[in-house]
Amino acid sequence: MKKVLVTGGSGYIGSHTIVDLIENGYTVISADNNSRSTPGMLEGVEKITGTKVKNYKVDLCNFDETRAIFEENNDIAGVIHFAAYKAVGESVEKPLLYFHNNMNSLINVMRCIDEFSVPNFVFSSSCTVYGNPDKIPVTEETPRKNAESPYGLTKQMGEQMIEAFAAAKKDTNSILLRYFNPAGAHPSALIGELPIDRPQNLAPVITQTAIGKIPMLTVFGNDYPTRDGSCIRDLIHVCDLAHAHTLALNFLIEKKNKTNCEVFNLGSGDGITVLESIRAFEESTGIKLNYTIGPRRAGDVVAIYANNDKAQKELGWKPRFGLGEIMTTAWKWEQYIEKLPQHLDLSPHLLN
Ligand code: WQD
Repeated sequence: MKKVLVTGGSGYIGSHTIVDLIENGYTVISADNNSRSTPGMLEGVEKITGTKVKNYKVDLCNFDETRAIFEENNDIAGVIHFAAYKAVGESVEKPLLYFHNNMNSLINVMRCIDEFSVPNFVFSSSCTVYGNPDKIPVTEETPRKNAESPYGLTKQMGEQMIEAFAAAKKDTNSILLRYFNPAGAHPSALIGELPIDRPQNLAPVITQTAIGKIPMLTVFGNDYPTRDGSCIRDLIHVCDLAHAHTLALNFLIEKKNKTNCEVFNLGSGDGITVLESIRAFEESTGIKLNYTIGPRRAGDVVAIYANNDKAQKELGWKPRFGLGEIMTTAWKWEQYIEKLPQHLDLSPHLLN
């Protein structure tokens, strides 16, 4: 069985991807210092798959610690790099923290891929690289525009570094996966999104409002030039996103890539507004949400959603979960952590 190193394996998308990789016959090891995640998430992965995943609790900003993983595992067929800070608002307040953490960890992982000649590399990128697009839906050819936040800038710089690395090192094949808005949870409700302190992203804010952790959801603006005045986004189920990583790795291992640095949009292809997302949650769960309209949030993109034809055609990827299942699985997970936080070995900073 081919071995894959998943960095950020205890994170939201990382843990769901590990489940999918194992279910598709891969052997997985993880590297996660749990600075923004809980070891309990890999317990959930074990409950779902029956497989205990070894986690290297290392700081990927430390080259020697990172290199030791590759020294010990000289049979790594691919690396999937999730480990990064990703809170847009925090990145505006603390840009140097984001440049240090997101760029140094990526550089160290790439240095090891180079030294140990790891043949395949999948990078967790984001639709934020498109900034405020002139035309939607966006395709992979849509030009990158000025990032709206330091977080988005780290994703843009990461993509450019990998493109330059690919041009220099022909025997490493890379894929950049541009996520739209990940949401929902594994149907088992044993793993899901665990925001640190108050969530920023819409989906966990919705479920925390529904369960009463947040008294009132604020819609950040309803005066945008869209069909109902609120922003448009492309929600994609985390399990669909996870499966795309397995398909991307298969694609590289089977040498189906035309170049050694390919880009794919991973979105549902449907744009929905913030108000429509709230209505979808209410209709799927029967729970009325307490919300109010507030001022716009700085840095918000007005409207973006994906043209996902390339991933469908070349990776054979097809999103399976619809909007209703995104909401119901997110809600089931919120209720689970409400009941059993001790199971997830949640340290206080992970409980809001
Ligand atoms: C979506 C919409 C908000 C909260 C970011 C990153 C992206 C990815 C996903 C990592 C916006 C509105 C939100 C709330 C609201 N991150 N909203 N009230 O900003 O599209 O994308 O998260 O993978 O890279 O950029 O996601 O969920 O924060 O916001 O009205 O309490 O929901 O204004 O229009 P965003 P989001």
